[in-house]
Amino acid sequence: MTHLIGSDPLADTDWERLRTAATEAMSHAYAPYSKYPVGAAALTEDGRLVSGCNVENAAYGVVLCAECTLIGELHMGGGGRLRAFYCVDGSGNILMPCGRCRQLLHEHRSPDLELMTVSGVKTMEQVLPDAFGPDNLLR
Ligand code: THU
Repeated sequence: MTHLIGSDPLADTDWERLRTAATEAMSHAYAPYSKYPVGAAALTEDGRLVSGCNVENAAYGVVLCAECTLIGELHMGGGGRLRAFYCVDGSGNILMPCGRCRQLLHEHRSPDLELMTVSGVKTMEQVLPDAFGPDNLLR
């Protein structure tokens, strides 16, 4: 694909690349309790690829969703904001982020974050309308 100089390198989101990365991340899941591996992958505004898998715990409530480890990798790699997001289950099917993780993604979104969902590509506002966020704490 040819990109014009000065064009947005992520304008045409490579969803297939994200699906592949999410599926690869899913293969690293530690999910002995639920036996429900999850993988997530995202592109950052500056073009980095970050990913994560779920990590469970014998104290069941301590579970880390795939999105949690993805956000950890985001910060370990220098931070930044997410531009495109894809999450898969153990069969490689698109998985909707749980409510807590929608909140996590919202905090680290770029203004034009797109999420692959079971009903097509959606914005963060569509996936978590009227979200609580950092701005609320300024009031
Ligand atoms: N899970 C995720 O990793 N992300 C989600 O958005 C939904 C749920 C994980 C948590 C747990 O390890 C397993 O899926 C079953 O709930």
